[in-house]
Amino acid sequence: MEDFLRKGFYHSIPLPDGRVLEGILPLDVLNERVSEFPIPASLAGKRVLDIGTWDGFFAFEMERRGAGVVAIDSTEVENFYVARQLLGSHVEYHVQDVYDLSIPRNGVFDIVFFMGVLYHLKHPLLALERVCEVTRELAIVESFVTNESLNDEVPTLQFYETSELLGQIDNWCGPNIQCLLAFCRTAGFARPQLLRVNRQRALVACYRHWLPEPEHPSAPPPNLLATTHSGNYGINVSPKTDDFLTAFFKSGEESLTRENVFPQVGGFGVAPVAVINTGADGWQASFRIPPGLSAGWHDVHLRTANSRFSQPTRIAIDMPAQTDSLSITGACDAKSWRPGEVAASDDAFLCIWVKGLPVNADRGNIRVFLGGKKLAVHQVSPRDDSGEPRQVNAKLPADFPAGRYDLVAALGETRSEAVSVRVV
Ligand SMILES: C[S@@+](CC[C@H](N)C(=O)[O-])C[C@H]1O[C@@H](n2cnc3c(N)ncnc32)[C@H](O)[C@@H]1O
Repeated sequence: MEDFLRKGFYHSIPLPDGRVLEGILPLDVLNERVSEFPIPASLAGKRVLDIGTWDGFFAFEMERRGAGVVAIDSTEVENFYVARQLLGSHVEYHVQDVYDLSIPRNGVFDIVFFMGVLYHLKHPLLALERVCEVTRELAIVESFVTNESLNDEVPTLQFYETSELLGQIDNWCGPNIQCLLAFCRTAGFARPQLLRVNRQRALVACYRHWLPEPEHPSAPPPNLLATTHSGNYGINVSPKTDDFLTAFFKSGEESLTRENVFPQVGGFGVAPVAVINTGADGWQASFRIPPGLSAGWHDVHLRTANSRFSQPTRIAIDMPAQTDSLSITGACDAKSWRPGEVAASDDAFLCIWVKGLPVNADRGNIRVFLGGKKLAVHQVSPRDDSGEPRQVNAKLPADFPAGRYDLVAALGETRSEAVSVRVV
């Protein structure tokens, strides 16, 4: 601390005339850290963000390499202004908390530095999600960790209520290396790569994309049949509610796992949380929605370590499903096709034709009521822009009493007129 007060700066900063603003961290130590980053010598045309910039050494170094740089810190540090002026730098500086990062406020960055900040945070995973949201290519994450190697099997996070870590009250948590990597994946980075661990400091390169497809694939691309919301099997999902996606695919490959199945949503890779064989060549993979995608339709592709990407399926992110009017143009028994009636059995379905559904109507947002009782929707015919009625299949419970009932379709606040259906 005395050293810090005497020197004033934490980072040493090299000046254009050859002098150095001496800080606690010597220049050779800082330069060695920079040499560990998997980034090119020239960053011309790149946009870089440095979070928790402090005196700004890394921000100024990235500017020297040609990048347009934004630096943020939750604490306003006078030294940053001193150094910026002496350097004639144009680094944009904001007193801003990492939690407040967003695309509308900050835009997006090719490379993001998030170094020496994570363990100072009460909500480390939330912060990493914000970091991921604004990152397009690579985030360099550096943190204190509680172990030195990957020998621990279980990801753990120590929590410091008071000054347990180094006697300081601004240290909140200490992940082990496994936990840090799991956090980076959970926040939305496809590929966190541990670069080094040294004296309980881990450096991780977090990539948002998978490696390029193999030039000579040894397996054909998976046949991607559908991608749906994991819970309701619809096509509408939202990152706000932490929805999971499940991709259903066929592949002749035999040992598919979380390590060799690579989903991609809206152009970003995302690490699967489960890969399951459903029998023979049937597979399903579940994964989160990567942060930073705009509201609208997005393609989902999937490949294996040995293959190229599959054909796409489409999902709707944060798209409101609404319509002004709905009408039922027909209803019949799914087996007999008898109009206006359905025969109750263990396996009875009503086929209903509904006009007025929006393009993103799905199993999760269409509701069907028979005699006021909600029926489970199992299928909705694929979206089509013709405006023709779409087929909705709803399951009739086996014990539904015979009789005549009102059938109503609804979506959001909009309900159709009732049509009469006889249960026999
Ligand atoms: C240990 S220093 C790291 C400085 C530099 N990034 C490095 O690696 O040398 C931590 C910096 O993070 C900043 N910081 C702490 N909490 C923050 C938060 N919630 N949002 C943004 N910056 C934060 C501190 O003010 C401080 O400048």
